[in-house]
Amino acid sequence: MALEIRQITDEEVEAAEFIISYSFNSPERRDLAKAVERSRKLYPASWSLASFEDGEMTAFVRSIPFAVRINGRGLSYAAVGPVVSLPQHRRKGHVGAILRQLLENMRENGQVLSGLHTPHPTLYQRYGWEIASLSRTIKIPPKEIQFKAEPKERGYIRMLKADDWAQADRVYRKHSAKRNGPLHRGEVWWREAIFGSGFAPDPSDVALWEDGSGEPQGYAVYVQPARPQEDMAQFWVREIVALTTDAYLNLLLYIVRHDLPREIAINAAPDDPFLSLVEDARHVKIEERYDLMNRIVDVEAALKLRPPANPELELEFTIQLSDRSAPWNEGTWLVKQANGEVAVEQTDREPNLTMSTTTLAPLYNGFLTPTAAAFAGRVEADSEESLAIADAFFATLYPPFCSDGF
Ligand SMILES: CC(C)(COP(=O)(O)OP(=O)(O)OC[C@H]1O[C@@H](n2cnc3c(N)ncnc32)[C@H](O)[C@@H]1OP(=O)(O)O)[C@@H](O)C(=O)NCCC(=O)NCCS
Repeated sequence: MALEIRQITDEEVEAAEFIISYSFNSPERRDLAKAVERSRKLYPASWSLASFEDGEMTAFVRSIPFAVRINGRGLSYAAVGPVVSLPQHRRKGHVGAILRQLLENMRENGQVLSGLHTPHPTLYQRYGWEIASLSRTIKIPPKEIQFKAEPKERGYIRMLKADDWAQADRVYRKHSAKRNGPLHRGEVWWREAIFGSGFAPDPSDVALWEDGSGEPQGYAVYVQPARPQEDMAQFWVREIVALTTDAYLNLLLYIVRHDLPREIAINAAPDDPFLSLVEDARHVKIEERYDLMNRIVDVEAALKLRPPANPELELEFTIQLSDRSAPWNEGTWLVKQANGEVAVEQTDREPNLTMSTTTLAPLYNGFLTPTAAAFAGRVEADSEESLAIADAFFATLYPPFCSDGF
């Protein structure tokens, strides 16, 4: 049977939306009109790739072009999702064939990195994606929470509407300036994924905090359940972005003053200092689980573009990579850092480090150090010194964290 991999046409949007809504058992599958309209409005056909067996669409993948900050620089990033196939065509290799083609397309499009969220990590590890960040949820009973520090000024909280998205974006951009993992958000993303319902059944509230001089210094995005009597535990803070201590403290105080919910869940970065702020830590529950899986699509370009965390360092090392689904990454690479610049070229030298490109993904964004990856048996090193050099090269200014779902 002939298998074809290609973009979908406008007439095929409905078939794609059926595979998506059926696979996630969304109620939309019984009436696809809204899903089709949303897809036509938000997702150009060039972001799609589908498999067709004898003309019938069997599987579908979307890849959204974003930029992700790595040590503050925006690098071209393909955010993959959804990935779906019809149950009657599963385990026939159709999704695998799409992913391999997608990697070639990403490379041609200059997308040096890619990421996705999934409940099936072993599937994507076959194609070079690897777990590269944690999601951390802090759960608190709001009435029991007292803080050890107080803000110097109370400032003002202002609720934003979707049309005010640029005010939140200014704060977000400043906050992301040196960070590692945030996506560049455009207007559509702010309106649809942040102010809209995103991935929750209810729309978000966005509260902006301004200091006494009227300068916006932080905001919180949170979702309150529409059915308060039944669902009080579901108060969920999607993100708190604060540029100053006063913004952070005022926004937290604002959140915990929502004192009807039994529990508030706060999505927090790994370096969020919440626990050291709380008087009685026994009230705090912290849950962690793997979050993003990343893939280095184009190793040579990705290493060259990666801004060093310590630009004053001069160093070099060689790294041998294996890569079954993106063979252009294979071989031994010489990586040199000098004068704040990184040069990368193929070399005949013996490798200092040997690993797969899959293993490189969590090293690249600082989720794992080369030393830790070697300790876990994922990297072979010719010496401890080589690992120390690679640790210095792959250092990051902040731990990786991305609060966007896609
Ligand atoms: C997950 C899903 C997309 C897989 O699709 P599929 O068409 O069965 O995938 P393929 O047949 O192309 O499988 C490719 C490879 O991954 C493996 N694989 C497939 N599903 C897997 C899973 N859930 N976990 C681990 N490995 C899996 C296959 O065995 C195959 O490996 P092989 O080439 O070594 O034989 C499909 O089951 C689905 O649509 N599920 C419901 C929606 C969903 O969960 N989507 C993913 C969200 S990220």
